[in-house]
Parts: sequence; structure tokens; C-alpha cells
Amino acid sequence: LSEAPIGVFDSGMGGLTVLKALLGRLPGEDFVYLGDTARLPYGTKSPETVARYALQAAEALEAYRVKCLVIACNTASSVGLPIIRERIESVPVVGVIEPGARAACEASSSGHIAVIATEGTVRGGAYQQAILRLRPGARVTALPAPLFVSLAEEGLHTGSIAGAVARHYLRPIFGATDSAESRPDTLVLGCTHFPMLAASIRRAAGRGVRIVDSAATTAETVVRGLTDAGLLRTGTTGSSSGARKSARKSVRKSSRTRGTVRFLATDGIERFARIGGGFLGRAITRGEVELIDL
Ligand code: DGL
Repeated sequence: LSEAPIGVFDSGMGGLTVLKALLGRLPGEDFVYLGDTARLPYGTKSPETVARYALQAAEALEAYRVKCLVIACNTASSVGLPIIRERIESVPVVGVIEPGARAACEASSSGHIAVIATEGTVRGGAYQQAILRLRPGARVTALPAPLFVSLAEEGLHTGSIAGAVARHYLRPIFGATDSAESRPDTLVLGCTHFPMLAASIRRAAGRGVRIVDSAATTAETVVRGLTDAGLLRTGTTGSSSGARKSARKSVRKSSRTRGTVRFLATDGIERFARIGGGFLGRAITRGEVELIDL
């Protein structure tokens, strides 16, 4: 089973920001990525619908005999994680909310944390609950920023439109007061599409705000889960910030045995290849993407 691929899914291309971190950390593993592009966005849909879609995506990846399943979508993680874990018992299932909340709690000095996410994620309160579980005294301000999903899927990461939308969403959090104490010191990008707009978001949030997302901590959670289950391919781990020296060694070693990535999308495979490369940080060719139906 350790030779099996790791399954990763999102409503669209946002989860590729998580896949990027996974590839950096586990360069020798094989991956199957599924983007449910036909039904994007998940963020505006009801919890019941999102849970149903997420379960279908998880079952589609199960058919590829994956050894671990990563729900690289906050909206799907917030409502789908329990039901997916219940139905797919045979492999570890990792969501992105808990790792994102952990990243936020580690980054924040004041304990005042802002979260921007889709409407569904904010409404469900999963981030607020996860942060308060990890840091009971925290103060959490969560606001929806759904237009960032469309901008990212459109490839409009920077420029005046992205800047204006970022200012529009972040003014109520960071622009309402001049007092540094009443402003959050950490902002969680609680949607896997949002790291694409990080530069615009950083500018709109202003100086001194730490911006975190769940990609790196999710990759660490996957490494830990696979290690604990004895499912890690040997010699496949890449760099983590903790152990740079040995990491450099293992990256060199593992570059000889680089794993494969297979992309699946439920619609618009040409578009997926064209825009997805920006999310992943390397080109995706049209031939690498397969069309599937859920
Ligand atoms: N990438 C998804 C997330 O992390 C949301 C995008 C959508 O609304 O479908 O929440």
C-alpha cells in the first residue's frame, strides 16, 4: 500500500496550492488530484450539497486506490470531513481546517485572529471552533470573501481589480480602527484559492499582519499520518522548515525518484491546464488532465 498514490481534491484549482506544498514535502510520492470544476463554487452552496459533492469526490479518488485522502478545500472540510471519515475508513483522511487553525495559533502573539473564507466555511463556524479549541482565549473575527475564488479561477491574482476587492473585504477587519491593539495580528486565508491573491491581500491588510494558510501545516499532517500508518514511501520526504540540512540531502536524493501527478477535472480540462499551472507553480499540459464524471 505504501506505493499507492495520495488523493487530493478541491472544488476547483485552489487545492493545487496544497498539492504544491505536498509535492515540496513528499517529492517521491505519487498523487492524484481531482478538481470538481463542473460544480465550483462550493462556498455558496448549502452544507448538505457540499457534503454530498465532497463524498462523491472522495469516493471517486478511493477508486484510484489512494493510501491517504486530502480534502484540500476548506468548505468541503468544514462539512464533509466526518461523513467522509465514516464512509472511507480504510485510509487516513486529512482536512485543511485543523492544520490552518494550528498555523494561525502558532503565528499569533495577541490571540486576535481574523479568518477570511467562503460563505459556507464562515457560516459553519468550523475555523472559529478549531481556533478556540487550540487556544481557548483567542478572539476570532471571521468574514466571507467569496469573490477571491472567482478572481483566482479567472487568473486575476494581481492588479487593480484584485486590489480593490481585497480592500473591500479587509477594510471592515483592518481599516475600522487606528489602534494596533484592536486589530487582529494574524489573518488566516481560510480558502485554498486565496493564497493566489496573497500579495493583494497582504497590501490591503497592512503592515505587521501575519498571513497564514493551511498548505504547509496540512502537508506536515499528511507526513505524520503516513509515517504513523507506516505508509510513507522510503526516502521520499523533501524540505520542512525544521530540518533544512537533512532536508537538502533528501531532496537531492529523492529528485532521482520523483513521483507522478495525475490530474482529474469534472469540466474544462483545457482551462484547468492553462490556469492551474499558476496555482501549482509549474506548467500543467493539456495531456496531463483527464475529464471524469462524478
Ligand atoms: N477552495 C475552496 C475552499 O478552500 C473554496 C472554493 C469554492 O467556493 O468552491 O474553501
